[in-house]
Amino acid sequence: MKPVKVGIAGLGTVGSGTVNVLQRNAQEIARRIGRPIEIAHIGARRPNPACNIDGIRVSADVFELARDPELDILVELIGGTTTARELVLTAIEHGKHIVTANKALIAEHGNAIFRAAHERGVDVAFEASVAGGIPILKALGEGLAANHIKWVAGIINGTGNFILTEMRDKGRDFAEVLKEAQALGYAEADPTFDVEGIDAAHKLTILASIAFGIPLQFSKVYTEGISRITAEDIKAADYFGYCIKHLGIAKDTGNGVELRVHPTLIPKEVLLASVNGVMNAVMIDGDAVGPTLFYGAGAGAEPTASAVVADVIELGRALTVDHDERVPYLGFHADAMSEMPVLGIDEVECSFYIRLHVQDRTGVLADITRILSDKGISIEAMYQKDVDDNEPVPVVLMTHRIRESAMREALEQIAALEAVLDDIMRIRVETLDA
Ligand code: HSE
Repeated sequence: MKPVKVGIAGLGTVGSGTVNVLQRNAQEIARRIGRPIEIAHIGARRPNPACNIDGIRVSADVFELARDPELDILVELIGGTTTARELVLTAIEHGKHIVTANKALIAEHGNAIFRAAHERGVDVAFEASVAGGIPILKALGEGLAANHIKWVAGIINGTGNFILTEMRDKGRDFAEVLKEAQALGYAEADPTFDVEGIDAAHKLTILASIAFGIPLQFSKVYTEGISRITAEDIKAADYFGYCIKHLGIAKDTGNGVELRVHPTLIPKEVLLASVNGVMNAVMIDGDAVGPTLFYGAGAGAEPTASAVVADVIELGRALTVDHDERVPYLGFHADAMSEMPVLGIDEVECSFYIRLHVQDRTGVLADITRILSDKGISIEAMYQKDVDDNEPVPVVLMTHRIRESAMREALEQIAALEAVLDDIMRIRVETLDA
């Protein structure tokens, strides 16, 4: 039977993993589709010793693939948003279906790419763009399609989770662990994307669109990284029964959607708290199904290739199906997207962990608690550590739920107190109750 002809643009970590999985599992994949997949063309400037591409046509110019009349599907694995965007749009123009692992491309340019693909009647699949090998987009858009999704919360950046885990378990230094994550191939080309939450914000943008049927709105995600988290915060969180995770949270509040990426205190006993190292996990709460949890490798050559190849298989099966009968790009029909607003961070309500260092003198705590009480902020728990004379005193507070704007105003006033010595750490708390 006529094979599905695939072109792979980019032969880095994920590209070589994709070649290896397609070759190793060729027979099983052919049994799943009903016809074989042929890697007909590779776009790469240089070979990658991690895979064998003997006998496959190779072009240094990836645009050769976009114009290759032989290809049914173009797999974009070059990354970035400039050449990748042009490549994908050119391939669409030439009638190719697209598979991509590129979260930045989809989060920032997906709306325009989908419009172009819809006009040309081709598909765009991007399972590998979120949480690596976890089939989370198919779970949200298909497996849970019966549900009204209430919220999604996930550890969706492996590098950040690896850093927080190593800091907590081994007391290791932030910069040293980041270097190791880079050497292991987990980190983005620019690792600030990992530690400052941009990578997670790209992924959350995509998750939220598929969860709620809203357009991709990357610029509206509130994003805070993990670079300010200290060993002191990790220990203090532990004291109160929490661990610190870098979460992406998308919530339908009824008045709008919260889209936020930030370090979060979660109770030690919830399952997400046990997701360690480079692993990812996503919790989804649906009105019919209740809470669900999806766990797996969020990065790496073959876990990501697992998702890329699954998309190739899905498109291979559907090559003869009319475009309008396929699953819509974002799981909801383009003409049925919701205009639900994305809420600003000031409108979010949650509990807070506050850590500060103060001078050891009478009345300091009274000043702090007065400011909190004036803003309607109720303290749930508190500790003040005993230190030597003249040393700054660490104070840690846990609050009840309060609107972010009230907390921001209170912290501005507290920071202005003469006895408060340095930057105040504020971390949001989520109990993840379904
Ligand atoms: N840098 C990403 C991570 C890779 O660490 O999760 C997968 O998107």
